[in-house]
Amino acid sequence: ELRQLVDQHGRRKRKLRLSLTDRCNLRCAYCMPEHPQWLPRKELLTIEELAQMSRLFVQTLGITNIRLTGGEPTLRRGVDTLVGELQALRDSGLKRISMTSNATRLAELAQPLREAGLDDLNISIDARDPALFEKLTRGPLQPVLDGIAATRAAGIPFKLNAVVIRGYNDGEIEALAAWAFEQALELRFIEFMPLDNAQQWSRDRVVTEDEILARIGARFGRVEKLARGSDPATEYVIGGQHRLGIITTVSNPFCGSCDRVRLTATGELFPCLFSSQGTSLRELLGEGADDAAIAERIRTTVWKKESGFAAPRGYVERPITMHRLGG
Ligand code: GTP
Ligand code: 5AD
Ligand code: SF4
Repeated sequence: ELRQLVDQHGRRKRKLRLSLTDRCNLRCAYCMPEHPQWLPRKELLTIEELAQMSRLFVQTLGITNIRLTGGEPTLRRGVDTLVGELQALRDSGLKRISMTSNATRLAELAQPLREAGLDDLNISIDARDPALFEKLTRGPLQPVLDGIAATRAAGIPFKLNAVVIRGYNDGEIEALAAWAFEQALELRFIEFMPLDNAQQWSRDRVVTEDEILARIGARFGRVEKLARGSDPATEYVIGGQHRLGIITTVSNPFCGSCDRVRLTATGELFPCLFSSQGTSLRELLGEGADDAAIAERIRTTVWKKESGFAAPRGYVERPITMHRLGG
């Protein structure tokens, strides 16, 4: 029996972000410690459990979109099998199966993922300059460019994500835009959020939407705002022809329309990016609880979801950082 998943602020949940692993082959300092302690593999939900949880979220709780995240989701063995299993949920209301990836493995995996039924990808690329990219991610740029080319060749629609951090890659704004516009790729700039592992966040490291738009306008011409949907990105048309998005968590939070929940690779439910704690579903799974009991725990946890982003004065300690939460 399907009953909508709602929180105490009346926001209905339609989107599940499902983290498949905390592992990554890059080391963006804002996301991950330099020497991360990976979660033990035996603590991860199995591919079957991930499929089971997805079924519950779609069939019982009315989730319509699933986004696979990480860490880096393509490092999880069986990711294409999982995408294949999710196809069975299309008849029960699953509309989109998406993934957020660093693209380094997409040269090999774009085609298999397409064949398994993946609908679209968001690909992170925080710099176009190879030396700066390597400095930020501690990995080479070329595999990412190859992954982007393979994604295009496989015919998977995708968008590009760039987190902008003042003093690190704010000099890349125009170069990233020029490169994306040239190839008619949709780029989204993301305001740096206070969730970084290195605890470097501060208000002045955030390059706001206004500042980004001023620079883009000066270089590429007229900035037109499109109508706002429920997605985090505000969409623009630049110079009458190029698409650009900006994710304005800090300068203009969009929490009032938040339709998301997230499940970590170990089966912890975090309703909000900024939730102060998670709720374990894996325990219930391990105890052999039935779907109704698990659904009830999900409903209770999501009901309590906080109102959302509240601008902090400085860095606030979080229970888990991005590489475990999945964004
Ligand atoms: P779309 O469905 O294409 O809009 O994807 P998305 O932008 O939600 O997902 P993606 O994984 O590409 O995330 C891009 C940026 O948005 C990352 O920095 C995420 O952390 C951030 N983000 C994703 N969901 C939320 C959210 O609910 N709230 C906030 N504040 N940021 C989010
Ligand atoms: N602020 C904004 N975006 C972030 N991401 C990771 N950490 C942060 C942060 N502190 C982004 C990644 C990727 C997406 C999953 O989340 O760059 O695009
Ligand atoms: Fe939703 Fe929390 Fe993001 Fe706000 S900060 S949009 S409430 S997940």
